[in-house]
Amino acid sequence: MNVLVTGSLGQLGSEILALSGRDGNKRYYFYDLPELDITDKKAVEHVCGNHDIDAIVNCAAYTAVDNAEDNSVSAYRVNRDGAAVLAEVAKDRDALLVHISTDYVFDGKAYKPYREHDPVSPLGVYGKSKWEGEELVRQIAPSYMIIRTSWLYSSYGNNFARTMLRLGDERELLKVVFDQVGTPTLAADLAGAIMAILDRYDRGDAYAEVYHYSNEGICSWYDFAKAIMKIKNLKCKVLPVESKEYPTKARRPHYSVLHKGKIRQEWGLDIPHWYDSLEKMLAGC
Ligand SMILES: NC(=O)c1ccc[n+]([C@@H]2O[C@H](COP(=O)([O-])OP(=O)(O)OC[C@H]3O[C@@H](n4cnc5c(N)ncnc54)[C@H](OP(=O)(O)O)[C@@H]3O)[C@@H](O)[C@H]2O)c1
Repeated sequence: MNVLVTGSLGQLGSEILALSGRDGNKRYYFYDLPELDITDKKAVEHVCGNHDIDAIVNCAAYTAVDNAEDNSVSAYRVNRDGAAVLAEVAKDRDALLVHISTDYVFDGKAYKPYREHDPVSPLGVYGKSKWEGEELVRQIAPSYMIIRTSWLYSSYGNNFARTMLRLGDERELLKVVFDQVGTPTLAADLAGAIMAILDRYDRGDAYAEVYHYSNEGICSWYDFAKAIMKIKNLKCKVLPVESKEYPTKARRPHYSVLHKGKIRQEWGLDIPHWYDSLEKMLAGC
């Protein structure tokens, strides 16, 4: 099976690349800007034709949540229109589209983990653009899996864990919000889950599925920061603050824990706890 990974220089794409060397059954092809812009249909068709692609894993996205508020055209171009282009090409080729989405499609008013069919109500441009991308994937692609994830971090790129590591070294005190609760997801764990699904899925079947995947457990950003300082033995003190003390351009859900039962059961996944995955990631830093 030939698999195209888009947005391959980002956190998730980089982790799939890192794991792909061990995967003998599939041939992976990795593309990112400027070689492949997912909004350029002719370019996507060309790459898919050249490599005889059977499945596309879309890791490309406009992920700057705050910047998206002022740059909605760019956010919608990539997150909605780019998703539609990939869905169209997947349809023409009879290929599977694995499309990654986000917990930010929810407004965070829930009090128990979000299930796949729970109503969405994104709070900002990023979440709205991702939701509209999902909708087009559902409408266009005959075979798709939409995987929503949350609080992605890795040893690659910009993310909360790496920022905390840097600031924890530089500063004596950090204020971190404790009224946004969710689950961090180690990008390497999600990459492994996607690759396990691709190993097991039946190419003769059409899929029309939405899944939720994050690590197990629940924490606030404050808890996450405390855990980073503790594991790395950093002396920086972390103070819990409310979101209103740390205003951001985009509103964020106060609660965005995802229910993982469906993906765990259907694909037999063993999902690690966020703390164990954080320890694993930090061991390499
Ligand atoms: N990061 C999170 O906390 C988080 C949380 C929930 C869900 N997600 C979702 O998880 C997926 C992977 O996220 P990530 O953190 O790995 O993202 P990332 O690190 O920001 O990587 C995205 C990659 O896509 C590229 N890209 C942007 N526009 C493109 C285009 N038009 N064509 C091709 N590539 C393009 C980016 O390039 P440039 O850097 O040059 O723009 C970047 O290399 C995304 O769907 C995201 O929405 C992320």
